Amino acid sequence: MSPAAELLRQSLGGGTPVAAMVLGSGLGDLAAQLEVDARIPFAAIPGFSASAVSGHAGEVILGRLGGRPVLVVSGRVHYYESGDPGAMRPVIAAIAELGIASLLLTNSAGSVRDDMAPGSVMAVADHIALSGMNPLIGEASDARFVGMTAAYDADLRAGMAAAAERLGEPLAAGVYMWFSGPSFETPAEIRMARLLGADAVGMSTVPETILARFFGLRVVAASVITNFGAGMTGAELSHAETKEMAPKGGARLSRIVEAMLREGVFDD
Ligand code: HPA
Repeated sequence: MSPAAELLRQSLGGGTPVAAMVLGSGLGDLAAQLEVDARIPFAAIPGFSASAVSGHAGEVILGRLGGRPVLVVSGRVHYYESGDPGAMRPVIAAIAELGIASLLLTNSAGSVRDDMAPGSVMAVADHIALSGMNPLIGEASDARFVGMTAAYDADLRAGMAAAAERLGEPLAAGVYMWFSGPSFETPAEIRMARLLGADAVGMSTVPETILARFFGLRVVAASVITNFGAGMTGAELSHAETKEMAPKGGARLSRIVEAMLREGVFDD
């Protein structure tokens, strides 16, 4: 077992979480709802790099949500911080080593659809990655040829849709297109994304999904829409806007995730 997984295993004290979650920018609301058993800063975990993005806490929280044990990663490392698409590999590898079966990825994203306004939550049905980057480049074994036909688990997604429906929370579904960032897209890139079949654009999640499938985890992902894509309104985009808007859809996503756990969607 890696030193990171070993340290987390000791903190877990025997139980295995039913799911791990990675929280995106401004989505701390979920963490605020946890019954916390332990908080472990990235800096204390061997191989986990500290995220430098403002608005990110950079810690692993062990606790319970909806009565189920969960492991929450608050403060992911983005590709744009280092240029390393495998930046989250130690985190995702440790989650798999601990025997956690499912990974829920959350992010903030821009909408490329006129009918999906800021404040919406979108379940990720599939993704597009045209950056040319892949976290498995350089991986030596044939295990690198990971199938991505069903990257986002259909059963977990159905569980998310059912939980949202029972709560009366609207939940969109669509394709998330990964841009490296950190600059936002141009209006022409947003028009391209729409032409190619994207519903939302963002700077995370895709490398994590690829790594998670490599390590055999089931993946479910959701985007909180913080803005319309570049050029869709008159306004310039900013990280301040992302941070300001994320909690609006984030509160809604938190309720959906709590209901998924409470209803046993992640149970064996
Ligand atoms: N583009 C990319 N990433 C984002 C956006 C966006 O418009 N909004 C929030 N994250």
